[in-house]
Amino acid sequence: MYRSDWEAVLDAAGSAALDHLNSLPDRPVYPQGSYPEILAALDHPPTDTGVDAAQVVHELARDLGPYVTAHASGRYFGFVIGGLHPASWGAEILVSTWDQNAGLYPPTPGVAVAEELAGQWLLEMLDLPSGSSVGFVTGGQMATFTCLAAARHQVLRAAGWDVEADGLTGAPPITVVVKEDAHATVRRALRFLGLGERAVITIPCDEQSNIRLDALEQALQSLTGPTILTVECGNINTGAFDNFTAVADLADAHRAAGNATWVHVDGAVMLLAAAAPSMAAHLQGLDRMDSWSTDGHKLLNVAYDCGIAICRHPAAHHAAMSVQASYLDQGTSARDPMDWVPEFSRRARGVSVYATLRSLGRHGLADLVDRTTRLARRFADQLAASGRAVIVNDVVSNQVLVRWLAPDGDHRGLADTIMSAVRVEGVAVFSGTTYRGERLMRISVSNWATDDDDVDQAIEALLRNAAHATA
Ligand SMILES: Cc1ncc(COP(=O)(O)O)c(C=O)c1O
Repeated sequence: MYRSDWEAVLDAAGSAALDHLNSLPDRPVYPQGSYPEILAALDHPPTDTGVDAAQVVHELARDLGPYVTAHASGRYFGFVIGGLHPASWGAEILVSTWDQNAGLYPPTPGVAVAEELAGQWLLEMLDLPSGSSVGFVTGGQMATFTCLAAARHQVLRAAGWDVEADGLTGAPPITVVVKEDAHATVRRALRFLGLGERAVITIPCDEQSNIRLDALEQALQSLTGPTILTVECGNINTGAFDNFTAVADLADAHRAAGNATWVHVDGAVMLLAAAAPSMAAHLQGLDRMDSWSTDGHKLLNVAYDCGIAICRHPAAHHAAMSVQASYLDQGTSARDPMDWVPEFSRRARGVSVYATLRSLGRHGLADLVDRTTRLARRFADQLAASGRAVIVNDVVSNQVLVRWLAPDGDHRGLADTIMSAVRVEGVAVFSGTTYRGERLMRISVSNWATDDDDVDQAIEALLRNAAHATA
């Protein structure tokens, strides 16, 4: 076997990685640099003879490092990004080093078992039905896709149709019921599944983005046949939780009326709330659903990328995802990861979940939920108290919606000015949204590393720039 100077490569990567991690408290959260500058720094085309690996890694860190956004910074509040838990970081180094193709048990039994355990621990920690099946995918998008593929299988099978074998042509129609404020990835998954983005019944939401139960009840009463319904555990804008008990009751009534029904929960933002006793009041009935999707790379703080698909009905999940090929070593009694995900060859991304859950423990996971929610409220309280902003949502979890008050009425322009100024200063990053037709600033506190001081620094920068912009 050819040998490499692994030490030299590790030295180059390791010292750059440590520099990056140690710089997180102080480095600008958002990098400076225009497109031409970045291109000039990175545009070193491959030569005929190539470059020594350690040198490439050294130069990669030198050239690309300055243009990396500090997503793992405690003051990155944009989108719903999540931080980098140290246990996940370490596990990811090993996963890359071991270089396993984690599709099947026989070629890589160790990581297959680690992923199986990670899935079981997650079910226990989130109090979801034991015996549910779990697949580790690339993100919330693919987790939702996976769960809705299982849903499609199940509701059509109940109508005597085998969608995996016969496709959708000529199949009994499925009615998909989606809340108005569902994340874009739900409709995108429906597109991938041949169910169509527009061919859905859209249920209006209340002002907090909760599905309106009266409208849902009416819609379900007026339809018959195979039905898939999606709701949310943590709305992208408001962080709100749908009323799961009421939704489950309506779904049960719909089933009792003879309609095959599957309810999916998009929990990309806040499924982990189920680990926190303090959130119990919001989550009654969550365990009565048919499937749940969430992200490892958001609040769980595992490294990108990692999503998790969970199904109460393993047979449907398996039927929708499993695959056979004559050259594969299949049919052992062990769990083959590829049977629960759309990928064939795959990274052992569940190992990072294994490590992070072990490191956090039950209390650590609950604390992560409570702390990020408390810090979101700290933002909301202080910004509201300043008189310069109005908090638009009820802050029930880690998401805050902020309307900056412009004396000239251009609230939208002011929000963009303030977000941009704070980002250029490098103090913090926030992102915007259009909510109910209005441009607002969104705050997401989803990093384990964020502390009170990070929040206070960000608030100081926001209010200082707000004062400056409105002077
Ligand atoms: C509610 C919700 N669902 C799904 C997604 C998609 O997740 P991912 O980006 O991991 O695919 C997001 C992403 O922010 C989300 O907020």
